[in-house]
Amino acid sequence: GRVAVIYGGNSSERAVSLKSGAAVLAGLQRAGVEAFGIDLYGESADLEPLRQLQEEAFDRAFLILHGPGGEDGTLQGALEMLGKPYTGSGVAASAIGMDKLRTKQLWLGAGLPTPPFAVCGQHESLDEVITRLGTPIIVKPAHEGSSIGMSKVRSRAELADALTTAESFDRTVIAERWMSGDEYTVAVLDGKALSPILLVTNHEFYDFDAKYVANDTEYRFDHGLSAEKDKALRDLAEKAFAAVGCAGWGRVDVMQDEHGEFQLLEVNTAPGMTDHSLVPMAAKQQGISFEQLVVEILKTAH
Ligand code: DAL
Ligand code: MG
Repeated sequence: GRVAVIYGGNSSERAVSLKSGAAVLAGLQRAGVEAFGIDLYGESADLEPLRQLQEEAFDRAFLILHGPGGEDGTLQGALEMLGKPYTGSGVAASAIGMDKLRTKQLWLGAGLPTPPFAVCGQHESLDEVITRLGTPIIVKPAHEGSSIGMSKVRSRAELADALTTAESFDRTVIAERWMSGDEYTVAVLDGKALSPILLVTNHEFYDFDAKYVANDTEYRFDHGLSAEKDKALRDLAEKAFAAVGCAGWGRVDVMQDEHGEFQLLEVNTAPGMTDHSLVPMAAKQQGISFEQLVVEILKTAH
């Protein structure tokens, strides 16, 4: 039947979703799938989002909105009520995955490693946060993606500005201990981890610019991990994905601490599919073309 690729949305990651959506739509069409796009909140859409979904005729949806309002369970809930199968995680896992604080609490509860953290403005003063976590720390809005609103903080003096920035995006802000080791990402397709990618950037961290703009960000499959460590990383990503209750596909971001132990940062339940994005790279590495990838993801719609 007819497939709606739903993209756009009104989060801070709208521009990223427009690129992901265009790529997914073109990929499905090249694969011979009868697909069309729905740009939620698009300029030419004179209907409110729920009406847009109700008025278009489709049998399944490929969801490729990033950020709140699309990746966070709200759109998933609307589609449940309309009785339309969709790709990716369900309502609850999408909501948790969009919330870095709840994700970390859940992983800790499941015995999975994640960097020590604090919720800014809760329980501890900022001085206590700095004392407990040490410096540097990384300050993050709890419900954003693509590193939007994040800052690396080296001293107590830098914390106020970082908080102001993060609070302009979100009421909940977390501070996380800086992980001095390497950063990896692991795509998960139908519950199975693909090849881990080592991310190497000249920036302070793998920020928005390093993700989508810079041409000098390196993506290495030749990551230097032993076979044992590589397996441990894949297993961890699969467990992290399952613990949140994710389904279909996603991407788990991981860093190594100063002891070389893996620490889970977050799970993305509708990860980027742009030409700079990581899931398509991981798939390609394993001989899965972009067209095959989008068809495989579509098959997991439920
Ligand atoms: N949040 C962006 C789109 C990603 O994880 O790829
Ligand atoms: Mg993210």
